[in-house]
Formats: sequence, structure tokens, C-alpha cells
Amino acid sequence: MSGLPAEDQTGTALVDLHCHVLPAVDDGAVSLGEALAMLSEAVDAGICLVVATPHSDRCPPESARAAVAELRAQAAAAGLGVELAVGAECPLDVELMPAWQAGRVLPLAGSAYLLVELRAGFFWSPAVSDLLYRLQLEGAIPVLAHPERIPAVQQDPSLLEPLARSGIVLQVNAGSLLGRYGSRVRRTVETLVERDLAHIVASDAHRVGELCELPRALDRIAELVGQETRQAMIARAQQIARGLPVDLPEPRTRRRRPLLVRWFRR
Ligand SMILES: [Fe+2]
Repeated sequence: MSGLPAEDQTGTALVDLHCHVLPAVDDGAVSLGEALAMLSEAVDAGICLVVATPHSDRCPPESARAAVAELRAQAAAAGLGVELAVGAECPLDVELMPAWQAGRVLPLAGSAYLLVELRAGFFWSPAVSDLLYRLQLEGAIPVLAHPERIPAVQQDPSLLEPLARSGIVLQVNAGSLLGRYGSRVRRTVETLVERDLAHIVASDAHRVGELCELPRALDRIAELVGQETRQAMIARAQQIARGLPVDLPEPRTRRRRPLLVRWFRR
């Protein structure tokens, strides 16, 4: 069950594919009260489905599934109209491939999409893209979390072009577009959006006050490159939650801006 409206005619149902909402399993919500407050914020933000993505090395699949079932029951009891699904955020390291092959890591909402991250302190190298391609050969569709926070990408966003062309989904953080991580990350994410190297936006929320950034970040994307891209990102997140294939745009070698923005910035 994806938790999405069967017919979302308006295309406005927001899905958050990256969220540390499960209480007391990783560095996300610290208590049930905080988790419920985050879900209440999701409802106010127009989010209909939150995929809980605890760090896979801190929360094994069986614990994540049990925590989602418990939080889902608590949210229903509290009258919160938001659905929860289970996933994980997996570090890109040597243990990931055997874990995927053995079914020991959870993809997003029961799909083939696997949320992966390059941890701080790990450097970008050919081994990273190699691992992503090998995961594809093993049936996974990697979703790379917050590439705008990777120093090598900040220096050279073109590093992401071959990944995007190979069908690897690039997920940027809502907070990056709103300045939560500073100006360097903000500049980088704007470049990625303008070069079609950002395919979906998610909250990566760890605390109250971060889930509500998702609709604001989508508005910022519309400001930067237009409504069409905003809608495409919303639709892609829905498709991923439904386990369906997504269309990824051809990366642009140059930044783009809507005509009016370009004219005013001259
Ligand atoms: Fe995360």
C-alpha cells in the first residue's frame, strides 16, 4: 500500500521519500511525541505519505518495520491523516552490495528504489559510481541522497551527469534550497536544479520544523526554473512511492532560468 490517493487528479499530493521520523532509532525524532509532532506538521504541509528512512546501520529492517507499524497505529489514534511507509538510508560502502543481495536493506516503500548516501568524510571516487552501477545490475534503482552536500559535487556538478544519464535518481534536500546548510550548499543545489541534475526533493527531516520545508522548497524550484519542473518532481516522488519507473530529464550543460527571471537579473 503506497498511501497515495488512488486518483490524484490535481497532482498535488506530496510524498516525502526521506525522513527520520521513527522515534529513538537513529539521530532523528527522539520520542514518540516528537514523531507525532513531525507527522502533524506533514499533514499541515500537504504531505500524504512519509517514507521513514532510518540509517540502515542503526536500525535493521525488522526494527524499522516494527517501528513503522507502531507509529502508524499511534498516528491513526491521534487522528493524523498521513500514511507511513518503510525504507532506509544506506551508506555507500563495501557492506552495501552484500546487504542488498541478501535482502538485509529496505528499499523505499517496497519498491526497487534504494536510498543511498555518501557519508561525511567519505570521498567521491570512481568506486562510488562503480558501486551505484553494480547495484543497478543487481536490480536496485539507487536514489542518491543530497548530492549537493558532497564537496566534490560542489566543486564540479558535472560529476553527476553520467549518473543521471544511467538512471540514478538524484534527491536533493528541501533545506538545502532554503539555506539550512549554508550558502555553498544552497548555491550548489540551485545549480543542480537549473541543470536538471535534481530529480526529486525530500525533507531529510530529523526534527520538528523541517518537514514543512518540503512545499516551500518546491515553490523555490518553481521560482528558479518554472512550475513544470516543480510538478515533475512531485509526480516522480509519487511514482517512486508506487514502485513505478520514472522519466529522468537529460542533464543540461548550462544553467537555465525562466525568461522573466533572466530578464530581471540582467
Ligand atoms: Fe537522511
